[in-house]
Amino acid sequence: MSKVSAAILAAGAGTRMKSRTPKVLHRVSGRAMIDYVILAALDISDDVQVVLRPESEDIRAHLEREFGDRVICVYQDYENFPGTAGALKAASPKHERVVALNGDMPLINGDFVKALASRQEDAAISVFTKLDPFGYGRVVIKNDRVIKIVEEKDASEAEKKIAAVNGGAYSFSRSFLSGFLPKIRASRSQKEYYITDLIALAASDNRSVSATWGDEYILMGVNSKAELAIAEAYHQKTLKETLMSAGVAMRLPETIYIDANAIFEGECVVENGAVILGKTKIIRSVVKAHSVIEDSVVIGSDVGPMAHIRPNSEIVNTHIGNYVETKSAKLSGVKAGHLSYLGDATIGEGTNIGAGTITCNFDGKSKYQTAIGKNVFIGSDTQLVAPITIPNNVIIGAGTTVVKDPSEGDLVLSRSKQISVANFFFNFFRKK
Ligand code: UD1
Ligand code: CA
Repeated sequence: MSKVSAAILAAGAGTRMKSRTPKVLHRVSGRAMIDYVILAALDISDDVQVVLRPESEDIRAHLEREFGDRVICVYQDYENFPGTAGALKAASPKHERVVALNGDMPLINGDFVKALASRQEDAAISVFTKLDPFGYGRVVIKNDRVIKIVEEKDASEAEKKIAAVNGGAYSFSRSFLSGFLPKIRASRSQKEYYITDLIALAASDNRSVSATWGDEYILMGVNSKAELAIAEAYHQKTLKETLMSAGVAMRLPETIYIDANAIFEGECVVENGAVILGKTKIIRSVVKAHSVIEDSVVIGSDVGPMAHIRPNSEIVNTHIGNYVETKSAKLSGVKAGHLSYLGDATIGEGTNIGAGTITCNFDGKSKYQTAIGKNVFIGSDTQLVAPITIPNNVIIGAGTTVVKDPSEGDLVLSRSKQISVANFFFNFFRKK
């Protein structure tokens, strides 16, 4: 199967997205749409070419970061050849079989692309049935022969009723493309060169065109933010089903959001409303209701409800309770049960973080580290003004502002002495 080239079309204007971000960089479950298309193509091809506009520096940089030299960027002559056929023209496939994929189909998978790539006809298209086919090219089939694809804007009233639509994934022979791409004329309605016109050209030259039927979601194209949300909902559903069948328990899974890059190992529980973002790794842990975890590692711990584990945290054998926020914090064998901010901190085993403890890690200009040793007892409402180091076996009294490093074994207290005025209440309110 390695003798297949893939061209991924990503040079469109994406105006329907109403965004400054290029359409194919919009994310589904945390990954750019185009990444899914490229991954499906890499499953079958060692020659993956992504067609961009020369000015698409952000897409190029993204591809470089994500795929390095596994994909190459080629550039469409958009001035002279706008449209999807103009995009395909920009590719120079190495192999005789060429798969072309729209860059805006994030739910496509390797199996479907493989099926398409194994077709031997000069032209093979992907088709699915859509009850409301608005916007898609309609596939005209007569006597079991694919005759042509008609775009929405050029379709007659009768053609608009056709429910068989073009999925935007194709397989061609390279020799057919080199003979027939130059024959495409710009469409009258859009002044664009349509890849879909290849089908009518093939049929009228008596070449066989095959249709590979697929699922409405797998082949869905995303042109707008509403369609992006539909694609993501479907993607989330399948992603969570996969995780659950691998042993992750989920309470009300439809309320949970999990990034495609997240990894779960061992027996884990994720409660309703939890949000797991970025390259997070969760091992043998419980994520309680409405907690948010971003780009962090959680091992043998319970987190939440309503906790916020921000990037670069490492939470190991630790209890994190409600309204606790961490950021770049390494906690091992710690209890932080309530209402704390632990940022740029390392905290050792057996340490208890009292409610309302804050690491004051920012002085308005720079960020500083807080190091807390083992078996430290931190009373409620403590501020640790970084940079600061608390050695092992220290007690910090409630309400303390720690500004100097204590020594091992110390009790640290900074609150002012309490005074009590007898009967003040009764005198003040003249109640007695
Ligand atoms: C296209 C198909 C339509 C099909 C639908 C499936 C054409 C003419 N129409 O319509 O039959 O049902 O996809 O989702 O192909 N692109 C370029 N260069 C361009 C224009 C577009 O590279 O000049 C890229 C886009 O970035 C996109 C893809 O080609 O990834 C498809 O373009 P888009 O404008 O989304 O086509 P549709 O109108 O959805
Ligand atoms: Ca599209």
